[in-house]
Amino acid sequence: MSPLEEITDPIITRSRDVPKLYLRAPLDSARADLLSWYDQHKRSLPWRDINDPWSTWVSEIMLQQTRVSSVLDYFDRFMDRFPTPRDLAEAEWDEVASLWAGLGYYSRARNLWEGAKQVVERHHGKVPQTLTEIKALKGVGPYTAGAICSIAFDQPTPIVDGNVMRVFARLYCVTEEMRSAPAQKIFWRLASDWAEGERPGDLNQAIMELGATVCTPKSPTCLFCPLRDVCRASHEADPLSFPVRERKGVKRAHESWLSIVISRPVNRSGERREYALLPRPQSGLLGGQWSLPMKRREGIGAPLEGEFNEWFSELSVVTPKVKSVSIKHAFTHKEWSLWAHVIELEETDDLTLPNEVKWLEITDIDRLALGGPSLKMMLAVGVELKRRRGSGR
Ligand code: ADE
Repeated sequence: MSPLEEITDPIITRSRDVPKLYLRAPLDSARADLLSWYDQHKRSLPWRDINDPWSTWVSEIMLQQTRVSSVLDYFDRFMDRFPTPRDLAEAEWDEVASLWAGLGYYSRARNLWEGAKQVVERHHGKVPQTLTEIKALKGVGPYTAGAICSIAFDQPTPIVDGNVMRVFARLYCVTEEMRSAPAQKIFWRLASDWAEGERPGDLNQAIMELGATVCTPKSPTCLFCPLRDVCRASHEADPLSFPVRERKGVKRAHESWLSIVISRPVNRSGERREYALLPRPQSGLLGGQWSLPMKRREGIGAPLEGEFNEWFSELSVVTPKVKSVSIKHAFTHKEWSLWAHVIELEETDDLTLPNEVKWLEITDIDRLALGGPSLKMMLAVGVELKRRRGSGR
């Protein structure tokens, strides 16, 4: 028998502009199996089952590019301080950033803060209930809007994230490259079909939960999957070969920077020191995050001493360096090499650092949104920040 003949009751997606896709059982029964699995096996998470759109919004933003386990502490602290959109809207950015510090991708926090202000201005502080109004809020894309509408308001709105794509790619053996436009059309179409039933919010979460805990990227536990009978990849192919991805080597542009880790004593004994940091412009790479002073350079290899001397004479730094350290930091499309001299001043010399520079102690720095490369550099030179390497993406 050919694989397709085995399929007793194929579900064919309704849209004309995506190819016909088959499931090995009626969609209604697959949905019911998945929901009953979810009811028994879902993880107990603080943003679940509380029916509050603000919690859904905050949690879904935090969960983007971040694991559930890393989000747990942040979510509780954030919601204790900002239980409503108005509380967030009225806060200063530095406080918002300090509660986000360590979660990384600060643009998410900034957009959430601005979105909360829009909710206050446009909707009297209440999260609106229509997909169109929710989508119009800062930082809310189709995924987050679909999540808020379905999870908080039980509307049949689709959501597609990495977990959803993997689950659907396997269930239906989607052969299109997962990031391609045709594949995206297919995933959104399927997500719409699946959301058109009972309990769409739970159903959406169940698909993501299945992807996160059973239908995992490298070691799916198909034996425990509630959709095993329905899944085409598990019967007709190798689940591990889905989703289909084109492996393009990422070509990163390389940039090289001079940097300075400069500190001065806070008290006479010199036990406590403070460090010169400055905020980056709000827009662009690492926008709004704090940074060591830096200067872009042309060369690729290690800088000659003269390059530092020239820059340091602009800054009026005359104290000899204690040591030199270099690190690399990869962004999605860029790689930075950072070459730093560590300067320990005896007292406040007459420097000509940029006006925005602030002298900050470790306890202050721990509460700041410190950009990844500067965090990495400070840890590399031995500054004892609380945050561990890798936590400040
Ligand atoms: N990933 C992102 N949001 C999620 C949710 N609500 N449930 C399970 N996994 C998720």
